[in-house]
Amino acid sequence: MEKLIVTGGPPSLKGTINVSGSKNSSLPILAATLLTKDQCVIRRVPDVSDANYMLQILSQLGADVERASGNVIVSAEKISHQTPYDIVRKMRASVCMMGPLVARLGKAEVSLPGGCVIGDRPIDLHLHALKELGAKVDVTGGYVIIDVPKDLEGKEINLRGKFGSTVLGTDNLMMAATLAKGTTIIEGAAAEPEVIDLADFLNKMGAKITGAGTRRIEIEGVSELHGAEHTVIPDRIEAGTFLVAAAMAAEKSLNINRVRADHLKAVIEVIEASGHVVTVSGESIEVTRTNNSRGAKIQTGPYPEFPTDMQAQMTALLVISDGISTVVDTIFPERFMHLPELQRMGAVVERQGNTAIVEGPASLTGAPVMASDLRASAALVLAGMRAKGETEINRLYHIDRGYEHIDEKLIGVGARMERKRV
Ligand code: UD1
Repeated sequence: MEKLIVTGGPPSLKGTINVSGSKNSSLPILAATLLTKDQCVIRRVPDVSDANYMLQILSQLGADVERASGNVIVSAEKISHQTPYDIVRKMRASVCMMGPLVARLGKAEVSLPGGCVIGDRPIDLHLHALKELGAKVDVTGGYVIIDVPKDLEGKEINLRGKFGSTVLGTDNLMMAATLAKGTTIIEGAAAEPEVIDLADFLNKMGAKITGAGTRRIEIEGVSELHGAEHTVIPDRIEAGTFLVAAAMAAEKSLNINRVRADHLKAVIEVIEASGHVVTVSGESIEVTRTNNSRGAKIQTGPYPEFPTDMQAQMTALLVISDGISTVVDTIFPERFMHLPELQRMGAVVERQGNTAIVEGPASLTGAPVMASDLRASAALVLAGMRAKGETEINRLYHIDRGYEHIDEKLIGVGARMERKRV
């Protein structure tokens, strides 16, 4: 196991930081390569452990997988329908294997995802969608066993859940419906940029999908898909994390490169509301830090609202900003494991249900802290850069699930941190 020692101090970041390809786009897109026997080439797949687990699952299913830097080549000529429990249990996103396996083979056995520290994460909507298409679904012995007695048949399916739309649920249904008979209409679809990216890739493979990025997606089934090449979109959550890093710790300003600013509107709005200046120029965003950062109100919601995956990092900024801030997470109401750790560093914050109330500005001091999940660990790295002294972040494997070499990238713009084996 590894830990990260962050040496904090006055704001010192400067220069340019490059954003990697999106983790959350790469995972379903890699799963979608199973929909064809032909070779697919996916570019800018980030070197993060979730993407690496996905590649391991593909090869254990029988696909031929090659990786050279960010380029992944998959040929899934002959594949099995049984996913290996030992890898699937490590990554919840492996549920998005269900759609492609059912569409290609008419059956799937996928281990149920394990518990998740950010709260209850059911897959009822995924299963409802597949049943509506005509699949028989059994949950037994820790596995979801899916069988398609006849062909999958398209129909109108409402995917709206009590917490709004589901991203991977929309992905699963979209992938399954590409090879179904007739037309499938998804009402209450997720509109995240990663859903559009997957639809773009599927269309390159010969699928007929319209409406991705809206709440209503229409998929006209085709009999076969073919190989395709695709470059995944920039990771908007990694980019957002660096925007917050700039607002917290830039000496004056920091440039974040290879971004889609249109995917980051809600995050940029909060950074501006807290007093920092954001300048967008093509694929680059410059954040100029103010010394008088103000508190703000944020509430997470489905895209284009503020992303739950940026909640912890933005809270770190609000902790050192002046005034009372409120942070409401309506998507994952239990996703506040970072609060006690930030409190150990001096943050003044109280939780009331799905809301955190932050009283700033706090002056932070370094402390040993525990990373509890991917985005919470990023929040601790950000806070550590502004804390006095050393912050020791344990369980670093969480951050490596979704950030490509975050320590090296931040060191490249002047941060002081070092990885150590425990
Ligand atoms: C994806 C992202 C994750 C992000 C989340 C919300 C990937 C790989 N992961 O996860 O980083 O935090 O979107 O933006 O893209 N729900 C149900 N029933 C279901 C499915 C979901 O009730 O069958 C609920 C969830 O508990 C949650 C909400 O719907 O409250 C949204 O979850 P969902 O969009 O499905 O998250 P993921 O797709 O798993």
